[in-house]
Amino acid sequence: MQTNKPIFVTQPFLPPLEEFQEYLKQIWESKWLTNNGKFHQELEKALCEYLGVKYISLFSNGTLALITALQELRITGEVITTPYSFVATTHSLWWNNIKPVFVDIEPETLNIDPDKIEAAITPNTTAIMPVHVYGNPCNVQRIKKIADTYGLKVIYDAAHTFGVTINNNSVLNFGDLSVMSFHATKVYNTFEGGAIVCHDEATKKRIDNLKNFGFINETTVVAPGINAKMNEVQAAMGLIQLKYIDANIEKRKQITELYREKLIGINGLVFLDDMPNVKHCYSYFPILIDKDKFGKTRDELYEKLKEKNIFGRRYFYPLISQFPTYKGLDSAQPGKLPVAEKITEQVICLPIYSNLSFGDVEKVCKCIKS
Ligand SMILES: Cc1ncc(COP(=O)(O)O)c(C=O)c1O
Repeated sequence: MQTNKPIFVTQPFLPPLEEFQEYLKQIWESKWLTNNGKFHQELEKALCEYLGVKYISLFSNGTLALITALQELRITGEVITTPYSFVATTHSLWWNNIKPVFVDIEPETLNIDPDKIEAAITPNTTAIMPVHVYGNPCNVQRIKKIADTYGLKVIYDAAHTFGVTINNNSVLNFGDLSVMSFHATKVYNTFEGGAIVCHDEATKKRIDNLKNFGFINETTVVAPGINAKMNEVQAAMGLIQLKYIDANIEKRKQITELYREKLIGINGLVFLDDMPNVKHCYSYFPILIDKDKFGKTRDELYEKLKEKNIFGRRYFYPLISQFPTYKGLDSAQPGKLPVAEKITEQVICLPIYSNLSFGDVEKVCKCIKS
């Protein structure tokens, strides 16, 4: 008998409960729940090793890490960013009273288009905040060159990347700071969580102070910091997740390859390929639907999948620049972001997570083909 259980776009990876209980027991015994506890310290060390980065500061979530990264570099005025991301990218600017300036994306990678950055720079520009969308690295060399030429900082929103490398070097080593998210929907999760990756000890120290109200010792507060600390339960989850991460990414790779094998050659449907010299983490599987060639619009396909209990996600739709908060900005005006405006009407992210069965992937593909 065939059951028609729902297939959701994502599902968090949860380790065996007994393993987590072991860690909880230690937390109960130590009664140390947060504020740079044992597991927090262990996780920072383990992540630096796993990711191949020098310094990492753990956060309670990625959004607070983004907001703090901007504070750390004292970014003001205008920041060039992409409209094709999750709203938190731009919200972090708004919360810092910074004006977002949207620049269009490349059709090949869906990342910010370096060719269009320079035209958006004004005397008020202080930084670029690109996103490695779906975990695919931005053109980091071109962005660095522009930033160096104009004296701008670069903060990468690396929420979708975990373990991604370019020529065996972590993508997190590019830019002044990189910000990660360990939200439940991500490849690697600590329930909620996030991190800032930086390249020197002094910066790490300041970030650590900022995420703890600006305290530098018991009695001295040097900055208007915030409370954005990761707690011990989150850190414990992070340590356990690290044991499974390679297997989980490998499974996502196999799912991606199966999708590609089954969906290749469908008229009006395209997907992204692996990039040369990049180790990917396969965090999403986006497809783009050209309605004239495919014979259906993206939304028609999305609804059809839903009828079959398959829940894709129109991610990213709408564009950040189309939300009421931002749509009045000059750079958000219709027609100014033609590639992003087109892609946002074409994209669906298909289900992908480490526990997704190959049978379910085939079912999704069959449904798309029919
Ligand atoms: C691109 C991007 N930036 C920022 C965030 C915010 O991260 P968090 O949910 O951990 O606050 C997310 C995801 O949630 C994201 O996808």
